[in-house]
Amino acid sequence: MIESSDFRTARMPLNHGTGHMPVLGFGTLIPDAAVTTSATRGALEAGFRHFDCPERYRNEREVGEALQVGLAAAGIAREDIFVTTKLWNSNHRPERVEPAFEASLDRLGLSYLDLYLIHTPFAFQPGDEQDPRDQNGNVLYDNGVTLLDTWRAMESLVDHGSCRAIGLSDISLNELFPIYEAARIKPAVVQVESHPYLPETELLEFCKEKGIVFLAFAPLGHGIKPGPLEDPVVLAVAARVGKTPAQVLLAWAVQRGTALLTTPRTAARARENFDISALPEEAFNEINRIETRQRLNEVVKTGVPGFIAHGA
Ligand SMILES: NC(=O)c1ccc[n+]([C@@H]2O[C@H](COP(=O)([O-])OP(=O)(O)OC[C@H]3O[C@@H](n4cnc5c(N)ncnc54)[C@H](OP(=O)(O)O)[C@@H]3O)[C@@H](O)[C@H]2O)c1
Repeated sequence: MIESSDFRTARMPLNHGTGHMPVLGFGTLIPDAAVTTSATRGALEAGFRHFDCPERYRNEREVGEALQVGLAAAGIAREDIFVTTKLWNSNHRPERVEPAFEASLDRLGLSYLDLYLIHTPFAFQPGDEQDPRDQNGNVLYDNGVTLLDTWRAMESLVDHGSCRAIGLSDISLNELFPIYEAARIKPAVVQVESHPYLPETELLEFCKEKGIVFLAFAPLGHGIKPGPLEDPVVLAVAARVGKTPAQVLLAWAVQRGTALLTTPRTAARARENFDISALPEEAFNEINRIETRQRLNEVVKTGVPGFIAHGA
């Protein structure tokens, strides 16, 4: 359930802890350190209060520093923002989970996290190498740990207090279901690729039924063109309602009951992507009727990040 009809301030309650997730989230898939800093500040200034990181992007330090400076400058309290980061594949062994969490907290300069996600369901060879490969270039997976083993260690983090809520990312309904069934602490959030070309309706319905927040990444289709940003239906709706195609896609995502992550790199884009409001019902339904189907990120198949932001 989304609280408030103003999309800019709307939040969704989490099924454990006391937290509420602002539906408009800023993602940090930005390879350049200086741009990470300026984009994070720009997002905070535009109004974003939800920030999504992973250890994998190696820029938690820049995000944390930008947030600290930005919060102090604007007089915003830590409690008024929502910060997520994610456990990488090479840290799935239960004994590696808490140290990885603490290392992320330290890089972000925070005393607690609002949300910690298992980045993908794939366990890689444990260690500090994030992309372990054999001499033929094949990923070295770890068969000595199950996703449920890792989930149990995530549950312990919640027990210890500096992790408010836990969830999963890049997961299918088939993989989510057994974790949901076995979990002592049910996943609060599931983060997956979703846009009109990949609506993930079955997963969304499951999440709604179980009170799990469905958090859409790549709501603009990773900005790839041609893609949802240039879809004729989206362009026509944008022209009709006087919004940009990006604003239409982001509004559609919220209107169907998902939270979202978007990555505006400039202050102007941050203001554009934050300034969204509900679409007329018939425009919303027109987008629902788009039949093109396309997954843009292959990460769900191998656990290897399938998309590197352009400019990387
Ligand atoms: N869990 C996972 O495995 C996973 C995978 C991928 C992403 N994510 C998360 O999801 C976040 C969002 O994903 P994403 O970066 O693909 O989101 P996105 O918002 O769908 O795509 C971002 C791209 O769209 C462009 N863009 C942004 N605002 C625009 C606008 N107003 N008009 C036109 N183009 C615009 C950007 O271009 P410019 O760069 O030119 O501004 C950028 O290339 C990431 O930052 C990351 O936190 C998670």
